[in-house]
Amino acid sequence: MAGLSRGAPDKVTIKVRGDGRPLGETNQEVEYQEAKAKQLEEARGAENRLDNSELFERARRVLPGGVNSPVRAMRQVGLDPVFIESAEGAEVIDRDGRRYLDWVGSWGPMILGHADSEVLTAIEDAASRGTSFGAATELEVELGEEVASRMPSVEMIRMTSSGTEAAMTAARLARAATGREILVKFAGAYHGHSDGLLAEAGSGVATHGIPSGPGIPAAQAAGTVVVPWNDREALAEALQKHEVAAVFAEPIAANMGVVPPAEGFLDFLGEATEQSGSLLVFDEVITGFRVARGGAQELYGVNPDLTVMGKIIGGGLPAAAVGGSRELMERLAPAGDVYQAGTLSGNPLAVAAGLATLRRLDDDAYARLGALTDRLASGLADLADQHGLTVASAPGLVTLFFSALPVKNFDDARATDGERHAAFFRAMLERGIWLPPSRFEAWFVSLAQDEIQVDRTLMAAAEALSATDPGRSVG
Ligand SMILES: Cc1ncc(COP(=O)(O)O)c(C=O)c1O
Repeated sequence: MAGLSRGAPDKVTIKVRGDGRPLGETNQEVEYQEAKAKQLEEARGAENRLDNSELFERARRVLPGGVNSPVRAMRQVGLDPVFIESAEGAEVIDRDGRRYLDWVGSWGPMILGHADSEVLTAIEDAASRGTSFGAATELEVELGEEVASRMPSVEMIRMTSSGTEAAMTAARLARAATGREILVKFAGAYHGHSDGLLAEAGSGVATHGIPSGPGIPAAQAAGTVVVPWNDREALAEALQKHEVAAVFAEPIAANMGVVPPAEGFLDFLGEATEQSGSLLVFDEVITGFRVARGGAQELYGVNPDLTVMGKIIGGGLPAAAVGGSRELMERLAPAGDVYQAGTLSGNPLAVAAGLATLRRLDDDAYARLGALTDRLASGLADLADQHGLTVASAPGLVTLFFSALPVKNFDDARATDGERHAAFFRAMLERGIWLPPSRFEAWFVSLAQDEIQVDRTLMAAAEALSATDPGRSVG
């Protein structure tokens, strides 16, 4: 396809090729990339390596659905998953050497971008001292202090290896602290895949239209009450009707696409849980250290009783945590009587990567992340206006909803147009833009991106929307 030029939102004009890569100043870069891709191709030929679809076939023989986590499959957008070989900065690179501008960021952890040199050095230093000791380390204390200094409601943390485990721990702690069993969660929120928290979940459960029941004991399912996000009456009723141990909330819902809380809703959650004697648990696995230094709780000034953290806290390695007041957290063994444990919890490599990441996330970093997000969200909003769509965003998070109506809850998110989203996804992928292959996920902004890449994404989106808008004739 011939190169074309388009006006970017700030009137900067950038030349791009048909595949979305910039021309002009980056011609040299393009040539370099092409030479590199050719080299890779040759190396591959020598090794007789499989192409993407052959590898997928092979993967499906040993991995259910060919993947190790459902959100990686691209079935809902009509494609085989693309196998990634490496990543650097704002890009992921597939096995054929094709580079994609990455708005997934490993679903949130890679806020600094990929293969960040400081994070890599921290991991290498840690690895050279040994990869796991099953014993306490000084860096875990430093990470605990770093988190406590950021999150207004957190005095202590207990680390786990995944957000799922951290949410499970929060549920157990809340039940122990209140002597109650029922959990309340919001439809479309995702708190990991544990039995009690999967009901009406967003993310991959929604993407693949999977019923949340099979394999979950009826008693566990009955212990969870699901209410619509942003619905005060439904929540008040649930708290009145049941002896609720905890209300779990993503303070900015991001697993049904980005759906910020309605005005005053988080304050209401704080007041309602306090009055009913239940605990408020903020699941900040996505929002933590992303939407602000101290997460959504800092942004909205609402302190939960417990906070679930993940993703950024591990800097791209497996780490997560639950945090809260000393009083609550010291219920955990060995300080207290609530058992929780993990062979690799607080793993030295993950802690080093998490600390190296968090230490880079200062006020300037958040200002920049916010500005990049605004540029992307406002550019998409202009396009959305032209195509009868809507955009929602929070700092570092953006969703383009394929619906003319604003999305306030899971029902609204489910009413968006999946086919149109899938066509858009494919058109963006063809243009070298890597988006979440689901209409129920956020685009994750990273600090490795820049204004040019945002504008390149907007130009590709303009083309992709025009090419896939069923209401418009394609020229
Ligand atoms: C808000 C939220 N909570 C919990 C989890 C589960 O975390 P993990 O995938 O590390 O188990 C996720 C994962 O995406 C999430 O987005």
